[in-house]
Formats: sequence, C-alpha cells, structure tokens
Amino acid sequence: MTQSAPEALKGEDWAGEMGERWLASLDRFEGMIAPIGAALLARADYAKGERVLDLGCGGGATTLAIAEAVGPNGAALGLDIAPMLIAQAKARAAAAASPARFVCADAATAALDEPPFDRLFSRFGSMFFEAPVPAFTNLRGWLKPGARIDLAVWAHPRDNAWMMEMMGVVRSHVDVPPAVPRAPGPFAFEDLSYLEAILTEAGFGAMEAVAYEGEQPVGGPNATPQEATAFALASMAAGRILAEQGEAVLAAARADLTAMFTRFHREGEGVMLGCKAWLVSAQA
Ligand SMILES: C[S@@+](CC[C@H](N)C(=O)[O-])C[C@H]1O[C@@H](n2cnc3c(N)ncnc32)[C@H](O)[C@@H]1O
Repeated sequence: MTQSAPEALKGEDWAGEMGERWLASLDRFEGMIAPIGAALLARADYAKGERVLDLGCGGGATTLAIAEAVGPNGAALGLDIAPMLIAQAKARAAAAASPARFVCADAATAALDEPPFDRLFSRFGSMFFEAPVPAFTNLRGWLKPGARIDLAVWAHPRDNAWMMEMMGVVRSHVDVPPAVPRAPGPFAFEDLSYLEAILTEAGFGAMEAVAYEGEQPVGGPNATPQEATAFALASMAAGRILAEQGEAVLAAARADLTAMFTRFHREGEGVMLGCKAWLVSAQA
C-alpha cells in the first residue's frame, strides 16, 4: 500500500535546499547532462569576441566553456540565484585561470551593471521563474537588439525515461500528486507552444527548436546502480518525497530503485536511460 505525500513536489528552493543538493552532487549532475550542454554549445557556435550571459549557470561548467569559445576579447558572465553555486563557480574559474566571471542574483528581477550582451545561453536554467513573462522581459533588457538566446529545456517526462522510471518506483511506494502542467520546474517548458507564447510576449521572436534525444548516465558516467540510487535519493525531489515517509518506506524504495537501475546498467557506461530535451533559439 502506498503512503500519501502531502509535502511532495514543493517549489524548488534553488537559493537554499535545492542549491545545496545540486552542489553536493555537482559532478554527477553535470556528468549526466554534459552531452546536452555540448550539443547546445555546438548549436550556439560562439564567435571570438562575443559577450555571452550564462543564465542559471549553476557550478559554472558551461560558463567556463563559453569563456574558452569567445576568447580574451569576449566575455562570459555566469548568473545564478544560488550563492553556494556561484561560490563554487568562482573557485573553479580561479583554479582554471579562466576569465569567466560570475554574479549571484535573481535573473527575474536583477538589474545588471554590464554593457549589453550579444548572446544568452542556458542549460536547464530558464524553467524556474514564478512569473516567466516579466522574467524574460527583464532578460531581454540585458541584450543587444537582435541578440540570439539558446536554451536547453526538458521535453515531456513521458519522453524522459530517466524521470519516468524513477517516478514509477517512487509512485509504487508513495502517492505523488500529478505534476501541474507549466508550473515552474524542470518540465515547465515541455510544451513548446507555451515557451513560444512567453518569449513572444516578452518581446523575443523567430523561435526555433530542435530535439535532442539520447541516453544519459543517471548519477554520472560509470555510476553503479547503488550509486545511481544514492544520487537519486540524495539529490532529486523523489528522494525528499520518500524521506518524508519514514525509514521502512525509504528502505523498500531504495531496494526497488537499485533493482530498476540494475536493468539499465551497462558496464563501462553506467546506468543509461533515455532522455529528450529541446534546444531552443530565439532573437531579442
Ligand atoms: C538545473 S540547474 C542547471 C545549472 C547549470 N545551468 C548547469 O547546466 O550545470 C538550474 C539552475 O538555475 C538556477 N536558477 C533557478 N532560478 C533562477 C533565477 N530566478 N535566477 C538565476 N538563477 C536561477 C539554479 O540556482 C540552478 O543553478
């Protein structure tokens, strides 16, 4: 029998709990989504000398790559609402002697003391705004007229086996209310017509999107099923939901998650599950 989860799926507190979770598993998260970042960077195809803003840059891995692409006459600025992630990004940049710079601010409302940017990039950092139209309007104010934005956003959960399989196990142990379509969160822009309406209202045009489809290593490359389970429980909303149910439920779910991840484990690769994202571009 499943338990109920009244506290399940609260909003994501990136400046607090969710930022701490992302930081604690930074390498594993970045390892999972590295191929999608590489595909978005290839699509953006930055030129030397461009000024690029990395929205919701997290630990800054993509900002460092952008700094490399635009060279010493360009600029790469990572912006994130989570202070602990910005601290980590700054430490990484210092260690790598990278010219990438970082600012901690809420992109929805911040005023940036910066010359306008040529481009905006975001790997999964644009779907968390409570009020997306004013937020994207604010972002447009930081860009030169005609500047191109490149966003990676998750497609529908049904096309993301990593999420479906995990939630299938979680739902066999606890009642999770159905996700609210378009609510701020990883899948807010699963419906591209919603994103296009937001961008249009915020003054952007010429939206184009291509699908990225592949497999991603849950818990990072070469994670064992046990490591993938520990990662899922420690870092994803599913773990919080199960932890709220007590030790017996958590232990049973842990065993089922490990059994499920074992079915998708491939030696030398890790726990490989299907994923689909949209690579979206538009013009300010
Ligand atoms: C899924 S993580 C992606 C991090 C990074 N882009 C990457 O790919 O490694 C989402 C990021 O968006 C940031 N974020 C969420 N809401 C934000 C806001 N209003 N302003 C700035 N950053 C925000 C979070 O703090 C988090 O670092």
